[in-house]
Amino acid sequence: MKVLFVSNEVAPFAKVGGLADVAGSLPRAIAEQGVDIRVVMPRHRQCPADEECSMVLPGLSVQSPGRAHAASVLETTLPESDVPLYLVKYDPYFDRPDVYGTADADYPDSPQRYAFFARAALTLNHALGFGADLMHANDWPTGLLPAFQALNPLGTPTVFTIHNLGYQGRFPLGVAPAMDIDPASPTLPLVASGGDINFMAAAIRSATVVNTVSERYAQEIQTSAFGHGLEDLLASRGDEVHGILNGINYADWGPDVLPAGLSCPYSAQDLAGKAACKAELQKRLGLPVDPTVPLAVAVSRLVWQKGLDILAEALPRIVRLPAQFAVLGSGDHELESLYLAMAQANPERIAAQISYDEDMARLFYAGADIFIMPSRYEPCGLSQIIAMAYGAVPVVHGTGGLADTVTEAAPEPTGFVAEHLVPLELIEATERAVTAYRQPKRWQALVRRVMRQEFSWDRSATKYLALYERALTAR
Ligand code: ADP
Ligand code: GLC
Repeated sequence: MKVLFVSNEVAPFAKVGGLADVAGSLPRAIAEQGVDIRVVMPRHRQCPADEECSMVLPGLSVQSPGRAHAASVLETTLPESDVPLYLVKYDPYFDRPDVYGTADADYPDSPQRYAFFARAALTLNHALGFGADLMHANDWPTGLLPAFQALNPLGTPTVFTIHNLGYQGRFPLGVAPAMDIDPASPTLPLVASGGDINFMAAAIRSATVVNTVSERYAQEIQTSAFGHGLEDLLASRGDEVHGILNGINYADWGPDVLPAGLSCPYSAQDLAGKAACKAELQKRLGLPVDPTVPLAVAVSRLVWQKGLDILAEALPRIVRLPAQFAVLGSGDHELESLYLAMAQANPERIAAQISYDEDMARLFYAGADIFIMPSRYEPCGLSQIIAMAYGAVPVVHGTGGLADTVTEAAPEPTGFVAEHLVPLELIEATERAVTAYRQPKRWQALVRRVMRQEFSWDRSATKYLALYERALTAR
């Protein structure tokens, strides 16, 4: 089977969130099942320099009604694998400081950029002579690809994975001509929804098979509370909306993979190094270096989805349990200022590092006793899975993938769950964690159990393969 896997982010080449982690690791697991899978992404400025890749198509003419864009295609491989990664190079659209735009707004020409990218992926498939049997598109920036395929009588089947329904790629209908879509053509009704162009809706409507990244979220998005207005469209696809839990690559994450220069490896059998990582983190954050006080952290994009505004309301009582709290993240300026102000007002207990910093993220996971993730909604969530690999016990809101990966139920609890996202329930769930922390034997057993949880890609890759087969048969 030949599969073209298309994503706007692929770790470690260009990453904004978990989508990149998935696109960088799932294809490797699928390749191990014997599939000829190749990955396509735009050549963002963050990607390796041209000299580090091979130029496989110096001239790729990407046609759309009324014009042609002169692009090119570079090739490299996903790290530690033979999986080819094609980078579509078109500098006017993708040689920019950020992947999507600033925290305040996406680049205004996003519709053109991603209409182009969908067409480029289809063109490249032919130009390279790959001839995929199936295309696997991910999230709204790739949403027009299933739509274009559905309009083509010779189009290949498509799988579309929803990583986050909160970002749909919605634009006024008036941008259609700029995207080279003739308002009178049959393309427009396929890509329009609720009076807008909607990339996500276009994909949900047109893909042969749709899935999302946990079973719970696959159910939730068919309800008005979680559907972001697309619940009816999703429900209309009923049996073709599947849930497959993400995994992580344990060669990339875990106590053997610590930031450069830090030497405190540890394991579920020998946790001594974790205490050293905690002391190092406390020191770097300017918090009192104290092994007796539990250190709770969050590593997150600072956006509404992640519920950190609710956590902020709970924080004064959480740190009086007592506990220390530190956040690593960036995004929404109001949230950034809020956490900086709280850290300034209570430097003995609260620290805030406002940045995107992969090394620091690893130190946060390794040094933390408790990992708090109070998301309003969470399609899967990789951070809590990564935290578990490092032995940080999760405290989560029981929604979406958080509910599917963390349980407080006896006899094998793996964390603490607030059923409703209200400050009081977050305080109580953290208090239960802190109570457990004060009982060293109980805590050690919990940390060890958390570290032994396996969310590896193997199982999920098998499920994706079954989904691919289903799409091929359906077509
Ligand atoms: P989302 O994709 O919604 O942001 P996930 O939990 O699926 O949420 O994935 C988040 C990924 O981004 C994880 O790999 C996490 O470590 C990383 N991450 C989030 N914030 C930061 C940050 N400030 N610095 C470094 N990595 C971060
Ligand atoms: C999205 C979701 C997150 C998920 C990630 C990878 O960004 O917010 O829950 O883990 O995609 O699928």
